Amino acid sequence: MYTTLLSLHSIFRWLVVLGVLYTLYRAYSGMFGKRSFDPADAKTRKYTVIAAHIQLVLGLALYFLSPITKYFMSNFSAAVKVRDIRFYGMEHAIVMVLAIALITIGSAISKKKTDDHAKFKALAIWFTIAVILVLLMTPWPFSPFSSKPFFRF
Ligand code: HEM
Repeated sequence: MYTTLLSLHSIFRWLVVLGVLYTLYRAYSGMFGKRSFDPADAKTRKYTVIAAHIQLVLGLALYFLSPITKYFMSNFSAAVKVRDIRFYGMEHAIVMVLAIALITIGSAISKKKTDDHAKFKALAIWFTIAVILVLLMTPWPFSPFSSKPFFRF
């Protein structure tokens, strides 16, 4: 169960990262190119939010199954001093929940706007902040916080 969730969480990272980047590409090009917000923009936004929410559920489930976070919760005062353990116990979990909240809020604001430029602008602002947090807090193989593989099957 744990290893399956870990693999799914690892794979879904790509859907979230690529989804947010593609939504941003469409938002900036739409905003500066002054084109109208079409159904493909709405679909990209919607599927990115769905991928982010699935990643949130997988992450929350992992939080209670991972030996790292279990150790963190039961040995807090010692574990908080170990960077790799603290990263998953606190930093990764908190910042990613925040990033997914920003994606959700940005998407909802964009959806409510009636003007096309305002729709693109809301996505551009909220998703830009979210993608910075996601890219910083993902344990890439070269990450200074914790190094994990690009793919885990
Ligand atoms: C956009 C959001 C997120 C991305 C891109 C992401 C990405 C990742 C990646 C790439 C890993 C390493 C997987 C591996 O070992 O191959 C990981 C591990 C982990 N993530 Fe996330 N994550 C996100 C959100 C969350 C959230 C919201 C939580 C919890 C609330 C969470 C909890 C965890 C835990 C506990 C692990 C470590 C599991 C272990 O190694 O035992 N993640 N995450």
